[in-house]
Amino acid sequence: MIGVCHLPCSTSHRSLSKLIFNSTPLVANYNVAAGVSHPCSSTVAASTTTFTPLEDSESTSLGEIIRSDFPILQQKVNGRDLVYLDSAATSQKPNYVLNALREYYETSNSNVHRGIHYLSQRATTAYENARENVANFINAQDQREVVFTRNATEAINLVANSWGDLNLGSGDEVLLTVAEHHSAIVPWQIVAQKKGATLRYVDLTTDEVPDIEQFKKSISKKTKIVIIHHVSNVLGSVLPIDDIVLWSHNMGAMVLVDACQSVPHMVVDVQKLDVDFLVASSHKMCGPTGIGFLYGKMSLLSSMPPFLGGGEMISDVFQDYSTYAEPPSRFEAGTPAIAEAIGLGAAIEYLSGIGMERIHNYERELAHYLYHSLTSIPDVRVYGPVPSETFARAALCSFNVKNIHPTDIATILDQRGVAIRSGHHCAQPLHRYLGINASARASLYFYNTKEEIDRFIEALKETISFFSSM
Ligand SMILES: Cc1ncc(COP(=O)(O)O)c(C=O)c1O
Repeated sequence: MIGVCHLPCSTSHRSLSKLIFNSTPLVANYNVAAGVSHPCSSTVAASTTTFTPLEDSESTSLGEIIRSDFPILQQKVNGRDLVYLDSAATSQKPNYVLNALREYYETSNSNVHRGIHYLSQRATTAYENARENVANFINAQDQREVVFTRNATEAINLVANSWGDLNLGSGDEVLLTVAEHHSAIVPWQIVAQKKGATLRYVDLTTDEVPDIEQFKKSISKKTKIVIIHHVSNVLGSVLPIDDIVLWSHNMGAMVLVDACQSVPHMVVDVQKLDVDFLVASSHKMCGPTGIGFLYGKMSLLSSMPPFLGGGEMISDVFQDYSTYAEPPSRFEAGTPAIAEAIGLGAAIEYLSGIGMERIHNYERELAHYLYHSLTSIPDVRVYGPVPSETFARAALCSFNVKNIHPTDIATILDQRGVAIRSGHHCAQPLHRYLGINASARASLYFYNTKEEIDRFIEALKETISFFSSM
């Protein structure tokens, strides 16, 4: 059954699968067909994926079902089965993606958009099909609204340098929250300093979520753009992007959504949210490093000057000036990360094959279990909201243990085969706001299980006992 496709193939589906994915079945336990529709679309679940009866088993979780797709998770670390709880930093990659990368290099490697020869055409088609996969995944109206970048950071820098340089001026404001990642803050600091604009920050409420009421009051005619995360990589909180966009647009402000921690975990529909820009990184969603994307409304991208100059992004080059290509090429100077884009396209097929709703529902279960397991340990302080009807929480917890440095915790857990992160998680303003220098963070993905959370909690309790006895 595995590898069987049940849908009438679209052109892009046929060409991509013929080019890259027509050989071995790559995904354990269910069938994935190449080609992606938006996860909201009713055709996705029905046509691209057929699960085996395992899906219906009450005793087998999604994490258990798909674990064997991830070779890296099969290893022992320091003599114990690896428990990988650092997926907010980067996710692991399934065989489906690893094989797509290998197959691309073995069968299609060539430069894109430049050659007339067979391999170049194959590579170009596969690269552009990957763009189409991204566009469908986030429900962009037009695939030209998807620009491949090195990562989310580069996508934000692109908007800051291109749109920001064109549209910001003295007295203008950029509105952010104190919970933004450095990659959403620093590019805007640089452009604001250059243009005489000001960065304004929204605080947290006592529930430790960005204060939406304060946000509403802070946005004004001076606000030119709102830079806001969808899901916090530290607090685990989820923001009402649709409301934020509505209020911002009413004031004439643009909205850039940092979707690094949402796109990998839930259905994100750029048309429904009506965002102006949205960024994400492939490596956090089962894809390779070195590739991410910017979504931008076509009217905005078309009005923006290039970010980097070079080959691929031009229309004509003369000795003293050049004219530029239309988006997305205008923003993709030089040879792009071709294999990586194709790997991202494969990752999207893999995720869509499982179903984003299914992933999200399972992760919600893990999120509750993780939060309540951690907060049941004395002296553990978890940051961010208590998960409830009002506050959704992602499957990640940043925490501190009284009198133990988070790096010590991470070090001892590593000796027990449990990988977590410690530090400021690229959110120093937020850590300062919370009155701390650093925190430990356990972040999960759909390949994790409740048993792994139990292993983590057990190892953490041992760590606390170890330091308490010193
Ligand atoms: C919320 C958020 N924004 C932005 C980034 C930056 O992603 P990248 O380093 O892939 O550009 C991250 C990565 O940790 C993140 O969690």
